[in-house]
Amino acid sequence: MTSDPDTVSAVDHVMRGRFANRFYVDRPVGFATVTQIIDVARHAATGGNVQPWRVHLVTGHAKAALVGAIGVAHETEAGAHSAEYNYFPENLPELYASRRREFGAVFYGSIGIDAKDQAARAAQTARNYRFFGAPVGLIFTIDRHLEKGSWLDLGMFIQNVMLAARARGFDTCAQEFFARYHAVIRHHLPLAPEEMVVCGMSMGFADPEWSQRRPPMPKAPIEDIASFHGF
Ligand SMILES: Cc1cc2nc3c(=O)[nH]c(=O)nc-3n(C[C@H](O)[C@H](O)[C@H](O)COP(=O)(O)O)c2cc1C
Repeated sequence: MTSDPDTVSAVDHVMRGRFANRFYVDRPVGFATVTQIIDVARHAATGGNVQPWRVHLVTGHAKAALVGAIGVAHETEAGAHSAEYNYFPENLPELYASRRREFGAVFYGSIGIDAKDQAARAAQTARNYRFFGAPVGLIFTIDRHLEKGSWLDLGMFIQNVMLAARARGFDTCAQEFFARYHAVIRHHLPLAPEEMVVCGMSMGFADPEWSQRRPPMPKAPIEDIASFHGF
């Protein structure tokens, strides 16, 4: 395939333009569009072509029922729920912990929440279960018998979903928050016993006011993440 500058520019634009959007407007996303996004995302690379992903999409009444149930669980018995896997180790190495702190300072600072204001941070965290007001919610699962390799594959599928959505003018936010409420999700959606909830995702039209003033999330420079040999 020869390189076409317009394609390069369009793909780069989509990749650079994707961000975790946590503010949406109340505007539905059509079934045909959502289906197109999943249809193109399923072409993600996957070890041995096993395609170890499964995604449940909710909107309307189905989303409202799920949000209601997770909301009750989060507000009244959050301590009784935990994810079936650890997203982070107990002791996050300092390099990553410092990036995580930087994210907190940048994000919470941008919405006027002091890093030490636990109540305000908790209120923002609680917005997760409403899918941040997005019209479409996604729940990604993986077969619990699979290993780390397949989780890599799932990540590629999730990234494809985010990019395909972004190319069509929608924004997204991946949400590991939902992994904690797998028991509630299982009660509302027809998950097979082997399906483990990995994360959720909000998808919809970004609130334009927020997307224009949101701060760019700092990304480590190339020299910190890549080493080139023999060039
Ligand atoms: C798998 C995954 C899970 C995430 N879970 C959450 C979450 O539960 N809640 C949330 O607000 N953001 C969540 N995020 C968003 C990250 O905080 C965000 O991607 C990161 O800060 C980088 O910002 P950017 O996506 O705008 O570049 C998640 C991102 C990924 C990839």
